[in-house]
Amino acid sequence: MILGIESTAHTASVGIVSEHAEIVALVSDMYRPPSGGIHPREAANHHVEVLPGLVASAMEAGGVHPHDIEGVAFAQGPGLGPCLRAGATVARTLALVWDRPLVPVNHCVAHIEIARQLSGIDDPLLLYASGGNTQVIVYGAGRYRVLGETLDVGIGNFLDKLWISLGGTFPGGPQLEALARDGSVLHPLPYLVHGMDVAFSGMYTAALALDKAGVARADLAYSVEVTAYAMLTEITERALAHRRRSDVVLGGGVACNGRLRNMVRTMVEERGGTLFAPPNRLCVDNGAMIAWTGQLNLRSGRTAPIEESGVAPRQRTDLVPVPWRERPG
Ligand code: ATP
Ligand code: FE2
Repeated sequence: MILGIESTAHTASVGIVSEHAEIVALVSDMYRPPSGGIHPREAANHHVEVLPGLVASAMEAGGVHPHDIEGVAFAQGPGLGPCLRAGATVARTLALVWDRPLVPVNHCVAHIEIARQLSGIDDPLLLYASGGNTQVIVYGAGRYRVLGETLDVGIGNFLDKLWISLGGTFPGGPQLEALARDGSVLHPLPYLVHGMDVAFSGMYTAALALDKAGVARADLAYSVEVTAYAMLTEITERALAHRRRSDVVLGGGVACNGRLRNMVRTMVEERGGTLFAPPNRLCVDNGAMIAWTGQLNLRSGRTAPIEESGVAPRQRTDLVPVPWRERPG
């Protein structure tokens, strides 16, 4: 078994996963700022406070003893520096005390790998839609390749920021989804697709202007969801066509969204393919995805001595090798 620690942004989480990808334990605690967006230092203080308790509860919930743990994985990046350091410090301490290898994991690759494992689809096209990231991804020659992505903010950050500007609290995505269910009038909003890339800042400004003009909140939420998720569906379809693929796997927190799932599913099924999205608790940030990707890294010999285990706040999806996907010959 591997113990994995997630602490890149708002969520502190500990997962324990077996070599067969069985989730033995998963416990999480999300930092919710009383108002406004996430302040990195405050979120990091939250993680420092809760992580030791989360490790203890995960071990207890799974009936796991330290000698069952083969390695300690942690999210090395990308993410907020102070938050990453909180998780890395706990991981280093456990690795030293238990005398086990330390396994740094890329957070984006972890979102991808847990979704791919659960899907049972060996080589899908991936739509990774989360707070900080919005990427269409395919594996090629030892790495995950980004075919298209957001040119400004991640879709989740866009939804959260919009919701907070409308007077709400973090996280905005799920609350906008609930509100959008009562909407029916589609107001035009900037639809920014450039090839396989997207951008959301124009929609943010336009949505606030619609709100000022007195558009009903439910219709506003509905219009934002339909427009933003149509953009993601379009770039995913373009990538499928160019790469001659048919199956799609969704990952990241925004993949919890029912409308996004339905829109992408309709497109994929019309093309004769299959769509898979993980259960919500494994779409949002969680320690199980770090532990599972830790398993893949450990089996490929990708561990790090303590002195080379520094965090990497800007470590992109396509920056890290994924040797477990290479085929012999
Ligand atoms: P990244 O993976 O890019 O580092 P992150 O780690 O901050 O981002 P995740 O936990 O993967 O984020 O996703 C959190 C985001 O998902 C938040 O922006 C949140 O609003 C959004 N989200 C969660 N549930 C839903 C939903 N039902 N509909 C839309 N968005 C959602
Ligand atoms: Fe994430």
